[in-house]
Amino acid sequence: MSPYAHITGWGMCVPQRVVTNEDLSKQVDTSDEWIRERTGIRERHIAGAEESTATLATEAALNALRVANLSPDEVDLIVVSTSSPEHIFPATACLVQDRIGATKAGAFDLLAACSGFIYALNMASQAIRSGSVKNVLVIGSDTLSRLTDWEDRNTCVLFGDGAGAFVLQAGEELGGVVSAVMRSDGSGGDSLSVPAGGSRLPASAETVLNRQHYIHMNGREVYRFATRVMVQATKEAVGKADLTLDDIQLVIPHQANQRILEAALRGLDIPPERCISNVERYGNTSTASIPIAACEAIQQGRLQSGDWIVFVGFGAGLTWGAAVVKWTGPFLPHREIYPASYRAWIKLRSSLLRWLRRVEGWIWGRKFPEI
Ligand code: ACO
Repeated sequence: MSPYAHITGWGMCVPQRVVTNEDLSKQVDTSDEWIRERTGIRERHIAGAEESTATLATEAALNALRVANLSPDEVDLIVVSTSSPEHIFPATACLVQDRIGATKAGAFDLLAACSGFIYALNMASQAIRSGSVKNVLVIGSDTLSRLTDWEDRNTCVLFGDGAGAFVLQAGEELGGVVSAVMRSDGSGGDSLSVPAGGSRLPASAETVLNRQHYIHMNGREVYRFATRVMVQATKEAVGKADLTLDDIQLVIPHQANQRILEAALRGLDIPPERCISNVERYGNTSTASIPIAACEAIQQGRLQSGDWIVFVGFGAGLTWGAAVVKWTGPFLPHREIYPASYRAWIKLRSSLLRWLRRVEGWIWGRKFPEI
């Protein structure tokens, strides 16, 4: 029988700096009242100069490993879902791999915008269910503030930065990710995009001048799409798990906008107390919003082992998806998995590897000058 992919660890990390609606109203023509009424957002965390998608992802991953009592060198695979990677390549997942010292892990990035965490969770779970890996780190991390046009009031009020991570582990008992749906509709791609910086429109003085490296969005189109697909995807994933909506203890949706969330709950006939909302304090943290909301639900005691929950989200692409999960908790008894000495050792190890690579290049470069 194929193993199940249980969620045995969770962690989050948000930047120190908080930007309130009041702060934004000094920058663009907006107001706290407008933002709260249309989105439910009051404040968001914005990355400082020393923070980035990889630093947030690394901290969230370490927190998740601590909860799972799993050592970094026991991780088989790292999947980082992000739309704001550190670079086009190398993958942000590889930077995380190096920083946490996951010496035996494969690592790759996945891009499905705000639906990315659900896609990554499903892919990681399928890798476990196939028997090819046992322990996977799934991370959602975004610093959309770096792609935001801070002069565009249509978008700059919406987004915040953050990261959330889950540890997935193989287990024989029924649990973990039980069903999932992933959908896309590329015909709506231009509703929400960063037009330049890829191979279609490489960075040039003109693209910078035209502000094409920033998020461009048709808010109304995205709003209509979101309210429709959240209901559809939830029902489909619940049906695939042979459950009904009455069996679901908690819905953890992508936190884009309080109005979208309420409309989806009305469509599902689920009362607000069976749904997590923290958009007020974080804004839309893109792919990180679902794991951050899950972490807070656990902190508040709203998620218990054995509960059935639904993750549901939508985003640029257009993409959307949902996953039904039977919540578990850590498998392994508590142990010290990340002593300070290990952190020092992996830094040293990484520096040594870089240095060795240089020496090797120098030796080979001298022997074989032209290849
Ligand atoms: N402050 C004040 N006024 C504003 C602001 C602002 N920050 N932004 C827009 N307005 C104005 C508009 O210019 C417009 O003025 P006009 O009537 O004179 O033209 C008016 O407010 C109404 O604008 P709408 O766009 O109709 O406002 P709406 O009620 O639709 O709310 C919003 C806009 C909040 C963006 C909403 O459409 C929405 O949430 N859409 C979904 C966006 C989303 O979730 N995107 C993320 C997807 S996930 C991902 O992949 C990253």
